[in-house]
Amino acid sequence: MSDFAELSLGDKKIQLPVIVGSEDEKAVDIGKLRDETGYITIDSGYKNTGATKSAITFLDGELGILRYRGYSIEELAEKASFLEVAYLLIYGELPTTEQFASFEYEIKMHTIVNEDMRKIFEGFPVNAHPMGVLSAMVCAMSAFYTGEKAGSDELNIIRLMSKMPSMATWSYKKSMGHPINYPNNSLDYCSNFLNMMFALPVAPYHVDPVVAAALNKLLILHADHEQNCSTSTVRLVGSSHASLYASISAGINALSGPLHGGANQEVIEMLEEIKADGGDTSKYIAMAKDKTSGFRLMGFGHRVYKNFDPRAKIIKKAADDVLSKLGINDPILKIAQELETAALNDEYFVARKLYPNVDFYSGIIYRALGIPTDMFTVMFAIGRLPGWIAQWKEMKANKEPIGRPRQVYTGATLREYVSIENR
Ligand code: MLT
Repeated sequence: MSDFAELSLGDKKIQLPVIVGSEDEKAVDIGKLRDETGYITIDSGYKNTGATKSAITFLDGELGILRYRGYSIEELAEKASFLEVAYLLIYGELPTTEQFASFEYEIKMHTIVNEDMRKIFEGFPVNAHPMGVLSAMVCAMSAFYTGEKAGSDELNIIRLMSKMPSMATWSYKKSMGHPINYPNNSLDYCSNFLNMMFALPVAPYHVDPVVAAALNKLLILHADHEQNCSTSTVRLVGSSHASLYASISAGINALSGPLHGGANQEVIEMLEEIKADGGDTSKYIAMAKDKTSGFRLMGFGHRVYKNFDPRAKIIKKAADDVLSKLGINDPILKIAQELETAALNDEYFVARKLYPNVDFYSGIIYRALGIPTDMFTVMFAIGRLPGWIAQWKEMKANKEPIGRPRQVYTGATLREYVSIENR
């Protein structure tokens, strides 16, 4: 294969370098295109445009492969803890016993959130959406940890990994009218989160190992996904050398969109709508095919996976396991399974590659774990945090330039000002 791509533009010919990644992915480097030809490329949604070279996550959309630093998500979800995977993504290797102990110790030493942050939090209304609250609280950290308290990037990474889960639980406790819980450093990362969510002063909270294991698996499966919308946002904001907190806060906002991380909340709301309407999935399958119905099947299809989302396969099995172990017979699981079966056997959906994605079953597990629907995307953010951090760290380590895409102007050409009397 040639090391160059040749582009003919009118009477110009230009050779552009071809780069090949470690998994044989190929790209044409157009870094000199505009300077040498005056042309730029345009690619709405960047579906064919690479923003960077990255060594963190590899996915193959055709084969349904997803690996973090070369390890398959199937192995990691089965054998690793979320904190181990966070270490792997952020620092590049699975930790030794000593490295993990030190990482876990540092995180435990920073779980307490500055009490003045609570004053900011108290200003939110009880019905504030937890994602808006979370992005604001994370951004507020850039105001708290500044100047002589700024600390190193490494310290701020630990602060975020430690404090974000604590702050995430505050919205739920406020919505329930319950006092917040402080972290309990005798618990592991997932158990500590569950304890902060569900413990009450009136009775000790027992962390069910089944629930903690399911949460561990879900967070691992959400930990990174190469250059998705929110991760690209984190890298772009970080490329201006804005703080880690400001970059992650921007990523949380991008993730909140219903076309991105907000989809897991939309899926459950769709399943509940179908259940409330009698549970007739065939009616909704027909509506999904009817463009005039205004109904969209949420949780199906994916921008990069062409045949199946490997995370959905793992989460579907976990959903079955968790509900049976917890003895939960959730009618929307049956509706979800009926929708999946119909979609996988209906040519309309098969032809459009509409199969369950990571968001389709995750909400069912979150429900089973007792997590409220408006917290589902917060759970996605907690899972994705180490991935965002790793990608921000890589962008800085590679000294990447500030991101500044170009455009093709299509507005009015030069015209002169006309005074208001004469318009
Ligand atoms: C993700 O995990 O970020 C979502 O699947 C979206 C994506 O990768 O585009």
